[in-house]
Amino acid sequence: MSSNGQKIMEWSERLAQYSEPHWAEKNQLTCTYLTPAHLQTAREIKSLMNEAGFDEVSTDAVGNIVGVYRAASSSSSSGSSIADATATVKTLMTGSHYDTVRNGGKYDGRLGILIPIACVAELVRQQRRLSYDFEVVCFSEEEGQRFRATFLASGALTGDFDPSWLDQQDAEGVTMRSAMQAAGLPGDLTEIIKLKRDPEKYIGFVEAHIEQGPVLFEGGIALGVVTSINAGVRAICKVTGTAAHAGTTPMTMREDALLAAAEISLMAEKRALQDEGSVATVGQMQVPGGSINVIPGECLFSLDMRAPFDGQRDALVADILAQAQSIASRRGVKFECTETMRASAAPSNLKLQERWERAVKSVGQPVFKLNSGAGHDAMKLHTIMPQAMLFVRGGNRGISHNPMEIISQEDATLATQAFMALLDDIETHPFS
Ligand code: GLV
Ligand code: MN
Ligand code: MN
Repeated sequence: MSSNGQKIMEWSERLAQYSEPHWAEKNQLTCTYLTPAHLQTAREIKSLMNEAGFDEVSTDAVGNIVGVYRAASSSSSSGSSIADATATVKTLMTGSHYDTVRNGGKYDGRLGILIPIACVAELVRQQRRLSYDFEVVCFSEEEGQRFRATFLASGALTGDFDPSWLDQQDAEGVTMRSAMQAAGLPGDLTEIIKLKRDPEKYIGFVEAHIEQGPVLFEGGIALGVVTSINAGVRAICKVTGTAAHAGTTPMTMREDALLAAAEISLMAEKRALQDEGSVATVGQMQVPGGSINVIPGECLFSLDMRAPFDGQRDALVADILAQAQSIASRRGVKFECTETMRASAAPSNLKLQERWERAVKSVGQPVFKLNSGAGHDAMKLHTIMPQAMLFVRGGNRGISHNPMEIISQEDATLATQAFMALLDDIETHPFS
């Protein structure tokens, strides 16, 4: 199987050629929900799946690409839909996302799509079928970039698609419904609701993902078994002050919205530093219609707050929001905040996690366990079925959400071997 790593590296490049115009010109990768680059990426993934030998490859109502490799005894191997599968043949679901952050890396999300595609190609080459259906879902949206609807794609599978998202507009005023319809999707809630999976039909969900941090790199370890995914909250905040003349308004008489937002950002940093494992980030800040000679009257900014446990995350969020209000009132400005995402911490299912541990051991690697600071589609699937993740070491000290994100071909091969070992483990020791 030594060529699987090479295939994954080549496939990653194949997907990375589709980027949005402004970014493509600079040779940067940006692939956000339902843009032309995103739709081309989806087409390329479908080709990869068809080339690999999946029995069914389709696009669902939110743009997920769903490939199924049927079990030897599946009632549906002759072509009927997933919903028709008999109760006796269960399904293992895997997958990850193919959208990216702006100027992101080639492996975040995509690696967790390409590894299982390589596994199916390998099973087809060996003329082997599993005793369970293997469903690979390539999630169309995880990063929450174009719309404030993080995890909308995996959320559709867990019944968490928020109907109000369809009317949400992107920065150009295009609603999600129109974006869906322009992409050839129904843009219709009734179709989206049908995507909800019945957990009874599933063995569980597994996801392979680049670690996106330095732990495996620093430890000289190729693969990591995830024990839990940190809890998170995202919010969009608005500070309203008074726009006024930058030359004539004395420093003591200003209601500067940007300075309040800046002080709130520094306070959030200080508060997160008080905890073991908490993080708080202001990733976006804008002064709409601002001018060089006008005191900012309005400032919009994002807040991303995470912690290993829900309680710790809740305390972090509550403290930051309360202190933001006091900063705002001391500065004579108004602070408003709208929560746009809340995800609970997702501890791995111990039995599935142990399968990853055995799989990693069986490919001659040490079993190293770590938790995930990044959010993943597995967090959504966690709400309806057992889940466990495998991390793959990132190079360049594990940097991610950055074009310097990289993995090695050798690690991609090892990860594919470990994934195959996991499939075998479920085959030889079915869940009781
Ligand atoms: C997803 O990449 C996240 O923000 O953790
Ligand atoms: Mn990401
Ligand atoms: Mn990701």
